[in-house]
Amino acid sequence: MRVMVTGGAGFIGSNLVDRLLAEGHAVDVVDDLSSGSLANLADARAAVAHGLTFHQLDIRSDELIEVMARRRPEVVFHLAAQADVRVSVDRPVFDADVNILGTLRVLEGARAAGTARVAFAASGGTLYGECDPSELPVTESQPRRPLSPYGVSKMAAIDYLVAYRELHDLEFCALALANVYGPRQDPHGEAGVVAIFSNRLLRGVPVTIFGDGEQTRDFVYVDDVVDAFVRAGERGGGLVLNIGTGIEVSVNELARVMGERAGVASTPVHAPPRVGEIQRSSLDPARAAIHLGWRAWTPLENGVQGVLEHTRRHARP
Ligand SMILES: NC(=O)c1ccc[n+]([C@@H]2O[C@H](COP(=O)([O-])OP(=O)(O)OC[C@H]3O[C@@H](n4cnc5c(N)ncnc54)[C@H](O)[C@@H]3O)[C@@H](O)[C@H]2O)c1
Repeated sequence: MRVMVTGGAGFIGSNLVDRLLAEGHAVDVVDDLSSGSLANLADARAAVAHGLTFHQLDIRSDELIEVMARRRPEVVFHLAAQADVRVSVDRPVFDADVNILGTLRVLEGARAAGTARVAFAASGGTLYGECDPSELPVTESQPRRPLSPYGVSKMAAIDYLVAYRELHDLEFCALALANVYGPRQDPHGEAGVVAIFSNRLLRGVPVTIFGDGEQTRDFVYVDDVVDAFVRAGERGGGLVLNIGTGIEVSVNELARVMGERAGVASTPVHAPPRVGEIQRSSLDPARAAIHLGWRAWTPLENGVQGVLEHTRRHARP
């Protein structure tokens, strides 16, 4: 199959590209390299000489529609995004420009290309807002009440997907992702707490925990997320599906597990809690099991081991 991955030079996107190439698909990557990098595609370029085509392109540009019409992908995996909640709070217009208008251009490109299906990276962590603990893990029937411009723009993109399905027969599957972690995640970003902890632990610097560390997240390993995308490229039409483990892990617990795996006994430093941070979060993956036959199967211990090994291999001397 010919497929396109927007955001394919990013953390999740590049891992997805590796898998799609390994399965023998011809892959077009569209990425403006604003947060992604070509280094993330080095393995893909080394492994497959002809299956990969890279387009350095902003999804907001008109050229995108021309490129898509020319390349005619059967399936588009749309992952390119302004993916930082804090940036969305500071620059909501920019966030909407990339995540709403950029997504619209991708959908127009898909129409022009005769694309059959779009698999979209939505955000489960921000879609449902702060939930009552009795509602955890949240199901997709939970009311959507995003608390950040990023959550709103990602939700709006889902609404467009629904409309395009009705209007233009463009099938979609939206994956509401939990906290994805794994190799290639940017340790300098905000979201990648596992990457940040990994970097600090291996440099012998204590990790910083904001607040009391009892806030919880649903950490899902990138290989499992990639597997969900591959399935969403074929199944799960017209659905929003949670992609998480359904397990809450506190930041304190994460720091403990990672310290153990790294063989480092350092006491975390606590800093004031971050304003606007959700206290508890986990996503019920039962619907993805039914419609995609998917479940997360990487235990946290194994996943963080993968990140620590990646950090070790890429550490600057
Ligand atoms: N990492 C997570 O925990 C998580 C959770 C929920 C949802 N998501 C979503 O998954 C997707 C991938 O996230 P990630 O963690 O890999 O982030 P990332 O920043 O590594 O990847 C995003 C990619 O999109 C590219 N990009 C950004 N703006 C672009 C534009 N205007 N035109 C073209 N390319 C552009 C970036 O260069 C980057 O390569 C995003 O849509 C994000 O919102 C991620």
